[in-house]
Amino acid sequence: MSVSTDPPVKRRDFLGLAALGSFLAAVAASVGGMLSLAFPRAFPEPSRRYKIGLAADFRVGEVRRPEGRNVFIFHRPEGFLAISAVCTHLGCIVNRTPRGFVCPCHGSVFDPNGGGVQGPAPSPLPWYEISVAPDGQLLVDEGRTVSPGTYFQV
Ligand code: FES
Repeated sequence: MSVSTDPPVKRRDFLGLAALGSFLAAVAASVGGMLSLAFPRAFPEPSRRYKIGLAADFRVGEVRRPEGRNVFIFHRPEGFLAISAVCTHLGCIVNRTPRGFVCPCHGSVFDPNGGGVQGPAPSPLPWYEISVAPDGQLLVDEGRTVSPGTYFQV
């Protein structure tokens, strides 16, 4: 049988070390929390106003879907229009067809102007405002809708 030569830890020393450890853990958690405020985890949404290029770069009859955007840009003889590609039922992205738009999720059908042809979508696809930015590029604003049939002319 061996006999320990270390002095036993006194109860008072043990409680003091436990209190110090708890205090340091609380300080570390507080500092970590404060530092995390400087680096928010939220990623900013892309702006709902964005440029799509110069009007002169669009041929009449051309349709574009800007990369990363859920909108179709049409250049028709009447002017430019931007139609949302987001189905008004539950938000799926519609596909463009020769006869308009079809939602792959539940089968809603829209005419070439985004008007509702077949449900369950409760409303037509909205048209967004188009304007010209100071640098001459066309500017789409998904935060502002216009009445269907409102073409933008340069
Ligand atoms: S989300 Fe388009 S029909 Fe349901």
